[in-house]
Amino acid sequence: MPTHVQDLLARRTPRHALEQPFYGDPDIYQADLEAIFYREWLFAIPACEVPKAGNYVTHQVGAYRVVIVRGADGAIRAFHNTCRHRGSILCKAAKGTAPKLVCPYHQWTYELDGRLIWARDMDADFDASRHGLRPVHCRELAGLVYICLAETPPDFDTYADLARPYLEPHDLGNAKIAFESSIIEEGNWKLVWENNRECYHCGGNHPALCRTFPDDPAVTGIEDGATPPHLMAHFDRCEAAGLPSRFHIAEDGQFRIARMPLKVGAKSYTMDGGLAVQPWLGRVPFDDAGSLLKFHYPTTWNHFLPDHAIVFRVTPVGPKQTQVTTKWLVNKDAIEGRDYDLQRLTEVWIATNDEDRRVVEDNQQGIDSPAYRPGPYSSTQESGVIQFVDWYARVMGERTGGAAAVAAE
Ligand code: FES
Ligand SMILES: [Fe+2]
Repeated sequence: MPTHVQDLLARRTPRHALEQPFYGDPDIYQADLEAIFYREWLFAIPACEVPKAGNYVTHQVGAYRVVIVRGADGAIRAFHNTCRHRGSILCKAAKGTAPKLVCPYHQWTYELDGRLIWARDMDADFDASRHGLRPVHCRELAGLVYICLAETPPDFDTYADLARPYLEPHDLGNAKIAFESSIIEEGNWKLVWENNRECYHCGGNHPALCRTFPDDPAVTGIEDGATPPHLMAHFDRCEAAGLPSRFHIAEDGQFRIARMPLKVGAKSYTMDGGLAVQPWLGRVPFDDAGSLLKFHYPTTWNHFLPDHAIVFRVTPVGPKQTQVTTKWLVNKDAIEGRDYDLQRLTEVWIATNDEDRRVVEDNQQGIDSPAYRPGPYSSTQESGVIQFVDWYARVMGERTGGAAAVAAE
């Protein structure tokens, strides 16, 4: 049985789930980290999570630990969270505020821009300027902070330039986090994505979400040029009101963005379909604009509604373990209890995330059986899954050393 990722990709059956090793083999997991997560731009945090100088958030991706911090100059930067003395982890909390970054071991002290400014009793020839924190590439896109662990990052501008006009009306710079949840799903990160990229499972698993979110395959699908008339009419109405909305998928398949209508009468992801927050976050001109759906592989999908936004971050933490972090963003002036009820705001997606966790874990457990064989995807219902798996297979094929990786269609 071939175990090398290239061999497995070469014999892949198109429009079928992947073979078992892709969903749990430690070597393939490591290859996924090295070929994808250590090379791509990764969504890290919403910028509003670090609103003031000295606010920081830590994040771990595979073996890398990163700290994202807002400097005294207002810029958000990311650094490897490892001291330049003997390597201790620098910031231990998930988030915090510090005037300087001080190592807990021997108190080497770094400016918020990474410069080493204090190191006690070092030798005469010690050059502090050569021991600043090692930077991690960091970009902000309309209130969303991305990082890249690669020495030389791939292009970010194509994505940023396309997505920015869609995001700007949502004014994420004036948001605050109303609530966040971080759950561990006992499943490979690709199963989390496969589940996200279809709504074939929605009717049978998401009673709360299905009150407002249409399980219409065109909404989760990837068919450009085949957009049905009811979606085109929605795009046209939004665009006429100055709200970028049309379906766009990247040439290389890494991201997709489109403003999709919710079910008739629904305005937001609440149990009754009504709005959850007043004042709104952003400048969407009407309450039935639906949800701006955006995904960007390998770390984020998002929903931007007229009144609030929900950002999701996918972080693999093991071959069969994935962290899914969800943050509900509201207008920074909205006051809990007066302008929004936290339960009303969050209950649909808290339930939905837990339901998704369960189906991903069930999927993983079934795949782990020796009897598992990759089954066919539905072209009608699972075109988004086919698109994700094809993206994954192409990227892995290119980066693990061969061109034979994409199965002939
Ligand atoms: S390891 Fe950080 S100060 Fe020594
Ligand atoms: Fe789901």
